[in-house]
Amino acid sequence: MQIEQEHPEDALAIHRLTEEAFKDIPFSQQTEARIVNALRAAGALTLSLVARQNGEIVGHVAFSAVRINGEPGDWYGLGPVSVRPAQQRKGIGQALIHDGLGRLKAMRAAGCILLGSPAYYSRFGFESDSDLHYGDVPPGYLQFLTFQGPAPKGEVTFHPGFDVS
Ligand SMILES: CC(C)(COP(=O)(O)OP(=O)(O)OC[C@H]1O[C@@H](n2cnc3c(N)ncnc32)[C@H](O)[C@@H]1OP(=O)(O)O)[C@@H](O)C(=O)NCCC(=O)NCCS
Repeated sequence: MQIEQEHPEDALAIHRLTEEAFKDIPFSQQTEARIVNALRAAGALTLSLVARQNGEIVGHVAFSAVRINGEPGDWYGLGPVSVRPAQQRKGIGQALIHDGLGRLKAMRAAGCILLGSPAYYSRFGFESDSDLHYGDVPPGYLQFLTFQGPAPKGEVTFHPGFDVS
């Protein structure tokens, strides 16, 4: 498996893959594929990594800048992340996330923030703290991983591309 930045011609395959991955997810509002498009259109995809197997895209993860207390900085949001259903639980999601976190560190990012299941993301070192908020999301589901400097405190804002309906 090869992990690399998306190429322009990958956009449609990423859209289909994201729709497929979230199709049966109960908490999903089925906006994830459009979110990736909106981030791309806004030039806000800091990283858009694809996992290829035999030339076919089997996984994708997006990273985009977030604001804390309205201030831009060096924090990045992880997501959406998608693995083709037939290929899930084979380590593709973990490989994509590890790769992306490594790239963010190499960019000297302060850290990464996401909304997701602690059961999955704690394996990468993500943690939660009541000093970091996102609306009324239960604290455990808003998670962060600090690469350098202090832990983030305050209200997180994701890119407006996440507001698609
Ligand atoms: C979540 C997702 C990206 C993980 O990718 P993956 O390639 O299937 O996962 P990996 O093979 O790297 O890791 C598998 C492990 O993750 C766990 N896992 C996968 N999804 C999980 C979830 N939503 N919550 C908790 N654990 C999860 C599996 O139980 C497995 O655990 P184990 O190693 O202890 O057995 C993939 O399952 C997916 O696309 N899901 C649908 C879309 C989605 O929910 N995206 C994330 C939104 S926060």
